[in-house]
Amino acid sequence: MNLTHIEHLGIAVKSIEAALPYYEKVLGLKCYNIEEVADQKVKTAFLKIGQTKIELLEPTSEESTIAKFIANRGEGIHHIAFATDNVVDALADAAGNGIRLIDAAPRKGAEGLNIAFLHPKSTGGVLTELCEDPNKI
Ligand code: CO
Repeated sequence: MNLTHIEHLGIAVKSIEAALPYYEKVLGLKCYNIEEVADQKVKTAFLKIGQTKIELLEPTSEESTIAKFIANRGEGIHHIAFATDNVVDALADAAGNGIRLIDAAPRKGAEGLNIAFLHPKSTGGVLTELCEDPNKI
């Protein structure tokens, strides 16, 4: 597959409001967007460093996978997202290499990206997201 860079790191937080001062005041990054992704029952906040983003993920429901993640493992790094110019091809490559897919086909994620996840059981425990920016193709 053709990956170009780390698009973002997803970090599970109980509260974006409580987490942001560390990223903004201590690290000096700037939050440029807060968005709710109803589909995934999360609120997301984005900060940028170089061409890579930090995506803070706050659960909006106990049913959210992020709520379950925090209940099981506490706050912290939740996933790594790689940018690709073709998420459909990347998924096919992964499946062809025996990687278990969470998403057989891409869906819409935050910021209008086409995204799909690979299962951490196939990736050494790292929940892995592939994303394609439809505005950059
Ligand atoms: Co993500």
